[in-house]
Amino acid sequence: MCGITGFTGKGTALPVLMQGLEKLEYRGYDSAGVTLADDQGLRTFKAKGRLSELRSIVENRELHQHTGIGHTRWATHGVPNNLNAHPHTNSTNTISLVHNGIIENYVSLKQMLENNGYVFQSETDSEAVVHLIDYYYRRFQDMETAFKRAVRDLEGSYGLCVISTYAPDTVFVARKESPMILGISDEGTYCASDAPALLEYTRKLMTLNDGDIAVLKPEHIALFDAKGNEKKEEWMEFPYDLQSAQKGGYDTFMEKEIHEQPQTIRETMRGRIEGKSIVLPELDPILGRILRADHVLWIACGTAYHACVYGQMVLNRLVPINSAAIPASEFRYGNYYVDKNTLCIFVSQSGETADTLAAIKRAKSSGAATIAVANVLGSSLTRIADATVYTCAGLEIAVASTKAYTAQLTLIYLLAQKLAEIMGYSTREHDEIITYLNELDRLTQETIDIAKPVIREYASMLKNEHDVYFIGRQLDYVSAMEGALKLKEISYIHADAYYAGELKHGPIALIQDQTVVIAFATQPEVASKTISNIKETVARGAKIILITDQNTPAEGFTYVIRIPEIRPDLACIISAVIFQFLAYYAASERGCDIDKPRNLAKSVTVE
Ligand code: M6R
Repeated sequence: MCGITGFTGKGTALPVLMQGLEKLEYRGYDSAGVTLADDQGLRTFKAKGRLSELRSIVENRELHQHTGIGHTRWATHGVPNNLNAHPHTNSTNTISLVHNGIIENYVSLKQMLENNGYVFQSETDSEAVVHLIDYYYRRFQDMETAFKRAVRDLEGSYGLCVISTYAPDTVFVARKESPMILGISDEGTYCASDAPALLEYTRKLMTLNDGDIAVLKPEHIALFDAKGNEKKEEWMEFPYDLQSAQKGGYDTFMEKEIHEQPQTIRETMRGRIEGKSIVLPELDPILGRILRADHVLWIACGTAYHACVYGQMVLNRLVPINSAAIPASEFRYGNYYVDKNTLCIFVSQSGETADTLAAIKRAKSSGAATIAVANVLGSSLTRIADATVYTCAGLEIAVASTKAYTAQLTLIYLLAQKLAEIMGYSTREHDEIITYLNELDRLTQETIDIAKPVIREYASMLKNEHDVYFIGRQLDYVSAMEGALKLKEISYIHADAYYAGELKHGPIALIQDQTVVIAFATQPEVASKTISNIKETVARGAKIILITDQNTPAEGFTYVIRIPEIRPDLACIISAVIFQFLAYYAASERGCDIDKPRNLAKSVTVE
């Protein structure tokens, strides 16, 4: 969602802040701003719209300050405009703040502050925090004390960065349920809401723990826990380089990330198959709890939720215990039965999705054993879960998830096999499973090679469509759901997914002459049934794009892509690249901003 950057050091702050914000553009935003500090005062610049607007305001000005904060805002409280854009400053222009998250008690804070003479300029919850810090500064006459005291009054979620003329070489940082990374180099100290903002300057990074506060000086960072106790910094060398955060010759990050999938699937498998065994030592600490689990819940949002549906279906075929997938936003408030015999698996690329974090907290408080399937190292989800297995998709920058999704499916498949083994259920197909897993990266590349030459033409069929339908049965329904999500999020074409067998119970009423139906028939057990359903839509005039296996008869269909020979329960993984390309080229023909689709953010850190 919103992006934050902060810097204090020897060099000039503005380029560090602006370049950092550029690297965070993929997170989604609708206004941007910076504040620079020195002992002469604070200078704040803001602009509605793209970063280029802000850049045109600050360029050609003499701005050589060494300390500053920057922000890209994705509107939650108040429309996107200059007043609501961050940074927010107090009335004497001595304190400036940027904030990600939602301050849940801002109404009562605002009331208290207004009663004390404070006047608000914006409609945002964030502005209350800058006045609150001012309120405490007047009492304590010390910025660090005022900042820490104000943070104690906040309810909700926040990543906060504050600078002030009262301490012009310092950036004050706090976080709760909103990501915040710190960095250090010979040039200075940095903070940002996501690592790509800092990679140009340093790879010596650290995640600020939930509830902690950091005080950034040009040469060092002091850390404090929620009770105010000083803590030791734990730096790590960030595993990805700047190259990973660049497009590497592709037009967009999404295109690059689709092409990376053979490699990211390989990385996700690396070290996890030894001979004929699947090895996931990360599960060792909870083996006993897995053994006594009498039901399994898979919980996540968006694309990661679709990966959960895959997990549920794969596990249901392996073990005779109930397994269900639930969207995190529903699970956190729903009446789902969870106790100490429940195993809850949470799937998230970012590990920072607000609903998923709330859901894992709920599961833990009911005594469930929890596993995180996450991509971002050290993210909040991984700190809460009893065990974490990492997908190794690398940095995913495009808002539309592609390589993270196939890495999730791959790891979830391994996890389901391992859970079945731990629970004492063996399969006679084990050797075949290992053989195909070892081939998965190659088969994904082969699918890319098969799909690419034809997919542009198929995508151009979608260009002027208003509604497209994705259908499939069993595991193919997972592809239908994710295919429909990909198409709508980046091309803005309305798309829905249906179980093929459900069509005649209602949705077939929508099919008219030339309606595009994208059908998946890769599951031999039900392929003939799906083909019958497809023919029912053809009889009503539908145009079909069929994604199928090598053997399903497909006479009479013009637009057919056959995936390479693979075990049916792995077909979802390789067929993903087909609908990803389809959505990509359809969006590209419609001139959409593919990496930054409207209204969407990479990581949804607010509810
Ligand atoms: O970071 P997470 O995996 O928790 O994110 C969950 C969803 O917000 C995410 O998958 C979203 O649906 C993507 N934009 C889909 O492409």
